[in-house]
Amino acid sequence: MKIALISPNVQHLHDLQRGLEAQGHSVQSFEGGKTRMAPVAQESSPDLMLVDGMCCDPQELVLVEQLTSQHPEIVVLLMCARQTPEFLLQAMRVGVREVLPSPAPAEALEAAVARAAARKAARNPVSGGGQVLAFAPSKGGCGSTFIAANLACLLAAQQRHVLLIDLNLQFGDALSFVSDAKAPTTLADLAAGIDRLDASLLAASAVKVDAGFSLLAAPEDLTRAAEVKAEHVEAIVRLAAQHYDFVLIDLPVGLNALSIRALDRAQHIFAVLQPGLPYLRNASKLMQAFKSLGYPPSRVKAIVNRMEKGSDISLAEIRRLLGNADLHLVADAPRDVPLSINRGVPLVNLNKAHAVSRGLAELAQQLSPREEVSPSLLGRLFRRA
Ligand SMILES: Nc1ncnc2c1ncn2[C@@H]1O[C@H](COP(=O)(O)OP(=O)(O)OP(=O)(O)O)[C@@H](O)[C@H]1O
Ligand SMILES: [Mg+2]
Repeated sequence: MKIALISPNVQHLHDLQRGLEAQGHSVQSFEGGKTRMAPVAQESSPDLMLVDGMCCDPQELVLVEQLTSQHPEIVVLLMCARQTPEFLLQAMRVGVREVLPSPAPAEALEAAVARAAARKAARNPVSGGGQVLAFAPSKGGCGSTFIAANLACLLAAQQRHVLLIDLNLQFGDALSFVSDAKAPTTLADLAAGIDRLDASLLAASAVKVDAGFSLLAAPEDLTRAAEVKAEHVEAIVRLAAQHYDFVLIDLPVGLNALSIRALDRAQHIFAVLQPGLPYLRNASKLMQAFKSLGYPPSRVKAIVNRMEKGSDISLAEIRRLLGNADLHLVADAPRDVPLSINRGVPLVNLNKAHAVSRGLAELAQQLSPREEVSPSLLGRLFRRA
């Protein structure tokens, strides 16, 4: 998430920024008081604004109210050293979702930011139907298919209806990552019968991998790839978004007319890369291209796959090279990931506790937040009253 920090305390700013950046957020710090809220919102358009140093004076909340009414898209968290019940009540009235202690314990902060991210993801910016997620590899072999396939599995496990579309028309192999089934029909067959396209034809053309998880496979024969046209992709993705909660699209390397049609419809675009310069160069070009295509930065994120501790390139450097994009990290597992792919069983099903599975589960949770019991403001108010 893109986070703006405001605090009169330089040490707090420094500690908060370091902690949040380590979790992959893009953070900007602003030294000062609450009067900075409006200009910071204007300048940086953050997803989340964390304002430290609010005291117990309910009058200060007038500024917060101005912000929450002018920028309802920004989640505001306050950090307050002394919290009275009146202050908490007023804060809730003006649209503040949580008030944390100041300085906030790392765990409480992390949990509050995760809840804010989940709330933001739940507010789907494009109305009508399910979410379309596009996975754009920066280079061949960066792990795009592995990530899309495992994420699809996790989303389906949350009782969502999920369709994974394999747009690697020539060499698509997504089905083999999750199943040993053969696809009786593929994208090429659906394109050939596009005049008859409806929800039941779409469902019948996809392979049912698991409860709630279907996969529309790439053509078996690579010569049939040319039969699929941009307008077919557009029609299929549009229809799929009306009938599935999540439509994940595994894109080929490089942009073409077909992938752009899919990207145009995606609420979340993930550029997939590994922490190495050749990947970074390409990922940076992709980011530029997304900008030129007019996709707002809030729709574009990067997934850094195979990230190891002590990697030559730091996270801060990766973020900088990618224009301050939000990053999501997936761990390196050189033994277990190939094992899962070779067995055709998603790693998230083989081993839920694996670091790679946990990283992907976090992303699934952000995309499809489960209701969780949180220490709500209201609960704390009642306890205090
Ligand atoms: N997190 C990971 N840890 C270790 N190895 C990984 C990881 N992710 C992917 N790999 C390895 O990278 C290989 C390529 O992954 P994948 O096929 O998903 O990439 P891709 O970007 O879809 O490639 P392609 O260009 O073939 O479509 C896999 O066979 C796997 O061995
Ligand atoms: Mg692939």
